[in-house]
Amino acid sequence: MCGIVGYVGDRDACPIIIKGLKRLEYRGYDSAGVAIVNDKGELNVFKCKGKVSGLEEFISEKDTRGCVGIAHTRWATHGEPSDRNAHPHYSASGNLALIHNGIIENFRVLKDALIQNGYTFKSSTDSEVLVNLIEYVKQSNDCSLEEAVRLALKQVVGAYAIAVVERGNNSRIVAARQSSPMVIGIGKGEYFLSSDAASIIDYTNDFAYLNDGEIAVIEKGKDLEIKTLDNEDGHLDIRRLELSISQLEKGGYPHFMLKEIHEQPNTIVDCIRGRINPETLEVYLSGVALNKEKFLNAGRIIFVACGTSWHASLIGEHIFENMCRIPVEVEYASEFRYRNPIIRKDDIVIAVSQSGETADTLAALEIAKKAGAFVYGICNAVGSSIARVTDSGTYIHVGPEIGVASTKAFTGQVTVMAMMALCIAQMKGTMTEEQRHAVVRDMLRLPEITKEVLSTDSVIADLAKIFTYAHNFIYLGRGYNYPTALEGALKLKEISYIHAEGYPAAEMKHGPIALIDTEMPTVVIATPDHTHDKTVSNMEEIKARGGKIIAVMAHGDEHASKSADYVIEVPVCSECLMPIVVSIPLQLLAYYIAVYKGRNVDQPRNLAKSVTVE
Ligand code: F6R
Repeated sequence: MCGIVGYVGDRDACPIIIKGLKRLEYRGYDSAGVAIVNDKGELNVFKCKGKVSGLEEFISEKDTRGCVGIAHTRWATHGEPSDRNAHPHYSASGNLALIHNGIIENFRVLKDALIQNGYTFKSSTDSEVLVNLIEYVKQSNDCSLEEAVRLALKQVVGAYAIAVVERGNNSRIVAARQSSPMVIGIGKGEYFLSSDAASIIDYTNDFAYLNDGEIAVIEKGKDLEIKTLDNEDGHLDIRRLELSISQLEKGGYPHFMLKEIHEQPNTIVDCIRGRINPETLEVYLSGVALNKEKFLNAGRIIFVACGTSWHASLIGEHIFENMCRIPVEVEYASEFRYRNPIIRKDDIVIAVSQSGETADTLAALEIAKKAGAFVYGICNAVGSSIARVTDSGTYIHVGPEIGVASTKAFTGQVTVMAMMALCIAQMKGTMTEEQRHAVVRDMLRLPEITKEVLSTDSVIADLAKIFTYAHNFIYLGRGYNYPTALEGALKLKEISYIHAEGYPAAEMKHGPIALIDTEMPTVVIATPDHTHDKTVSNMEEIKARGGKIIAVMAHGDEHASKSADYVIEVPVCSECLMPIVVSIPLQLLAYYIAVYKGRNVDQPRNLAKSVTVE
């Protein structure tokens, strides 16, 4: 949430940070702004409500020259989206400008103290409190900016990634982080700063990852200086990131979401590459193999995740219990972290997160780690906070996901979970070789199968036209596909703003069936499994009450099609992999309905991709 970007060097900062900001817009799009220090040392802030394109237009006539700049795209927490609440925020004297991602929890106390000292505030943000606190500390102690940032942050409770620039200093940015992401791109005599390395990958592949409680002085032509809040030397964690720029572009698609849906046959290939031996049909994941004893002796697996990643974890629960016979619990990270959970030393806590930065998932993980559990990550973003905090893990390797609605990350997460379970099942002997190999063979077919599903794109687009004006939707599924139903409903509501609910099909009779009438479409996942007949009976019950049914079913399933009004036919493979197959038409259905409704598919209202605040 909120994207921050910065530049220090010999080039003109503004075009660089605006380009970076556009790549960070998935993190929030309520307002945008830049602060530039020019050659004369003047500090100028330009900001406005709305998207980065609006800011670009706003500054097109302004003099934005200068080689030091910071920029921000906002997802509002404190204060409504408006020009005055947009970042950067000046300090009262106008000598400092700050951008902030996160929440300062004790901002009221700090603000009251500053008001007592004569400060006034122009915005309703916690961030303006922080810039004034830094200024107050700097003036009271007559110290450098970095010292003022350090002393001010020692008074702060909350989460932040901040960058501060100073009037009169046209070679330096001071940055700090606590529980919000921040990387520093290292160029030749120049530095870049960002919430996400991908946004500055055009300029460098070398990144220093700032750790919690660290402050960086980023100065043109000088070595990077990193200190802790206690003024000790920080840890310089430099990594190389290989990423192709084409992964960050729409590549001819009208939206990132559609591109990412269509990428899935390839992202599944990337996800399994080097992990499955097509000859021996054996699966090797280093994160599991190197921690064999932990997995063999696990008393329980606890998944912690949010949103779509939580849905993938529910599928993981079925997969791990069925294949590895290990008890599994799936927790909303935001609930787990606040409810004094019982965590045992033989528990394995698996955090599932596309971004690897979700604040609640990170906090849940830290609780588990403190309690002595072995913590494992299933992440997409390489080098992300969760990936660095965990004892071990498996990347899903599906490439940057930019559309706010998660698609290819979901199928990548389920693919990784299935591979992990196959590895563990082999070690524990909970599946026969024949059973394991059958799943692996299907896994190798997934790129072809998903391609086939995607070839029905236009059929689903036509179906979406029929249902564009529905006000409510129900999604039903059972077993592995109950979480897929939840995920289908989430996709629809987040990008089309149509109310949608997912239920286990058999639960209908216990209440939700009262909602059924001629206006209520129900998407039923009726692919072959041991409850197929029962699911078809549930369809009949809905039909008997006038409901309209869209069935996602196997090619040529006459039994299911008789009870359906509309059908989406999919190929069939191992049951545990069917959520991957079924989720794709549900993604497309949500996508086309949202497009027909004229919604902003890649940037749905009120949402941001990386939820780095609680
Ligand atoms: C929905 C969606 C969100 C995320 C959730 C967790 O399409 O994208 O529900 O799944 O915010 O994010 P990560 O996986 O980054 O932890």
